[in-house]
Amino acid sequence: MLDKLGWKKSDKVVQSVSERMENLRKDDVPNHIAIIMDGNGRWAKNRAMPRFVGHREGMQNIRRITRAANKLGVGAITLYAFSTENWKRPSKEVEFLMRLPEEFLNSFIPELMELNIRVEMIGEMEGVPDYTSRAIQHAMKETMNNDGMVLNFAFNYGSRREIVLAVQQLAKMVQDGTLEPQEITEDLITEYLMTAKLPEPDLLIRTSGEIRLSNFLLWQLAYTEFWFTEVHWPEFTDERLIEAIESFQKRNRRFGGLKGE
Ligand code: FPP
Repeated sequence: MLDKLGWKKSDKVVQSVSERMENLRKDDVPNHIAIIMDGNGRWAKNRAMPRFVGHREGMQNIRRITRAANKLGVGAITLYAFSTENWKRPSKEVEFLMRLPEEFLNSFIPELMELNIRVEMIGEMEGVPDYTSRAIQHAMKETMNNDGMVLNFAFNYGSRREIVLAVQQLAKMVQDGTLEPQEITEDLITEYLMTAKLPEPDLLIRTSGEIRLSNFLLWQLAYTEFWFTEVHWPEFTDERLIEAIESFQKRNRRFGGLKGE
């Protein structure tokens, strides 16, 4: 309906976060969202603070986005928390990042239980300090019977490494005579990846203005919709998440075909 000046109500009223949340199509919320949480360092630098303050702020933001995704009915979120390439950072920063799971997960478990959220992990525990792997394993064990949203951490994770490990397992089976080379299909490779239990991501979000994948879920993102934003991860609010999902809902996913033309 138009008012005296010819404005539609929707043109001039800025919608609140909860209104925008309400307006999303519930049957088209991405089931699995993968997130590259970039820009903690720049966020801190812009405030003349050390990088670790940005990482701590980024860690707190995981709570906010986990809650929001859960409220929106998302089935799983996969967060790129530490890549196989991140070992190249100064040792003080690596040490700080390795302490975060302990600091974060232990205090988050009661809320994860309340929200029925299950913690999972992709990546390798080998090479990670004991206190880090203990904290992740503890969170996974405590939440293992929750059957709501999955909060999946990619930690000490690299996609090429994941593919190499899968190929090695399949090659071993061929060598042992339990698998024929022609039985190696896309589905079989998918089953041998660390994400075997998860559906492919529907939406990938990368914060902080970089437009690249940085060795994240290369196989799994083949048909995923991408959303890049200039916003640094510590400032990626619920509203930004809703914005990404609004954009996702406007897209026409064809998976290589002509569906929905
Ligand atoms: C990228 O920002 C961020 C990371 C490499 C680490 C992300 C980790 C967290 C948000 C916390 C993880 C918490 C748990 C519980 C596992 P950057 O440092 O590359 O930022 P920059 O590009 O601005 O320097």
